[in-house]
Amino acid sequence: MYDFKPDETLEPAELHRQLCDAADALTANESDGVANMANVAALIWEFVPRLNWAGFYRVVRNETEKELVLGPFVGRPACIRIPIGQGVCGTAASTGETQLVADVHAFPGHIACDAASQSEVVVPVKRGGEVIAVIDCDSPELDRFSKDDVHGFEKLASILSDRI
Ligand code: SME
Repeated sequence: MYDFKPDETLEPAELHRQLCDAADALTANESDGVANMANVAALIWEFVPRLNWAGFYRVVRNETEKELVLGPFVGRPACIRIPIGQGVCGTAASTGETQLVADVHAFPGHIACDAASQSEVVVPVKRGGEVIAVIDCDSPELDRFSKDDVHGFEKLASILSDRI
């Protein structure tokens, strides 16, 4: 049994340090990427308060082009395929840059998968400089995510680079 017990009063930077330590420990000796994404989605859900969706979209090559395809997550059922360049996730995938969105309704082309979502952060996971997936977190609160959250999720993405 894995028994991570995050303290809800932790400052964001310390919360993310503990989240990264837990994710590192849980994925270090496992080569199955789906299992690792599933456990990390569950860890994000346990450690990071005030979320309504946390999980992954993977960059997948279909017959003609690359697209994002839904991966392991916690939350309500979500859009399955997102074109690269569209929505918050597709923008993170096409630019390779983290997208910190204080108000999703103000983001041109935002794709609403859960009407409860008000703010969102999407962080690319890269391997050898290429985006291979994105970590997506949604909150029902406006302006939920801080720079500490961005730095924490970016560190988490770097840990997962060769584990998903
Ligand atoms: N809002 C995202 C779509 C994915 S859901 O939030 C789970 C977007 O605009 O890309």
